[in-house]
Amino acid sequence: MLKDSLEAICGRPKRYEEMEIPFWDDEHISKQMLAAHLAPDFEGASRKLDFIRQSVDWIGQAAPAADYPELLDIGCGPGIYAELFARAGYRVTGMDLSRRSVQYAAESAGKQGLDIAYQIQNYLDLDVRETYDLCTLIYCDYGVLPPEKREILMGNVFRCLKKGGRFLLDVFSMKTYREFEERRDWESCPDGGFWSAEGYAALNRTLRYPPNVTLEQVAVLSEHRSACYYLWNTCFTAGGLVLEAERAGFKAAGLYGDVAGRAYTDDSPTIAVLLEK
Ligand SMILES: C[S@@+](CC[C@H](N)C(=O)[O-])C[C@H]1O[C@@H](n2cnc3c(N)ncnc32)[C@H](O)[C@@H]1O
Repeated sequence: MLKDSLEAICGRPKRYEEMEIPFWDDEHISKQMLAAHLAPDFEGASRKLDFIRQSVDWIGQAAPAADYPELLDIGCGPGIYAELFARAGYRVTGMDLSRRSVQYAAESAGKQGLDIAYQIQNYLDLDVRETYDLCTLIYCDYGVLPPEKREILMGNVFRCLKKGGRFLLDVFSMKTYREFEERRDWESCPDGGFWSAEGYAALNRTLRYPPNVTLEQVAVLSEHRSACYYLWNTCFTAGGLVLEAERAGFKAAGLYGDVAGRAYTDDSPTIAVLLEK
């Protein structure tokens, strides 16, 4: 096992090679991930709460609840956006494949008396037609996927929207790719940490895959287990992102620097696009 992990960290994985363990739904990691989502000033899993509030305010102007009442938030995590959307007047469905996040989200909505429908589901298997007015995919999840899965996702979202429905998503831009540095380091967590409850050492490596893909790779080595995690990301030009959306049948209704509606420039680390069916 150790040999496998060392080979994985020393070799260069194939572009978008899948990891052996379902990262988002792993028992220990999903617990750490939930804590990261809920930390209001940490950008690891969800953006900072102040930004999320600005984002929901802006979305309320770009696709108002009065005109786009049925909202589907895919990759909703623990429902931070979903709750604010519900308070802003949308009828919200939240979808995520992390059982722990969805369980937390459903309990939190219940405690606050918010009527939000949550589903534990892979958005690549989303198969409903003409149901929603607005779909959101927030915090650059689209770029995690390889091209063939992005095509499936764009198609699924296109089909689930009513005619005239809108899809808002964000991705990392080429500025982020240009600034991404290759590095190697390691950390020791004798009492356990993000990747494992038992003590471990983590060998971290970042790699660039020209022209626009990056990899953050972590090999976790502990007494009883070793595992290698791959975090892929695709960076986009605005034109490249719009082209993928157009192939699914969308037209671009607006291009922004982020999902809070800031102006897009060559210097924006992210790109947000508002698409229309
Ligand atoms: C970076 S987090 C963003 C969460 C949320 N949108 C936010 O900004 O607070 C990505 C989320 O997507 C979920 N996710 C990843 N792949 C998924 C898939 N194939 N289907 C459904 N959810 C997925 C993860 O479980 C995680 O909650």
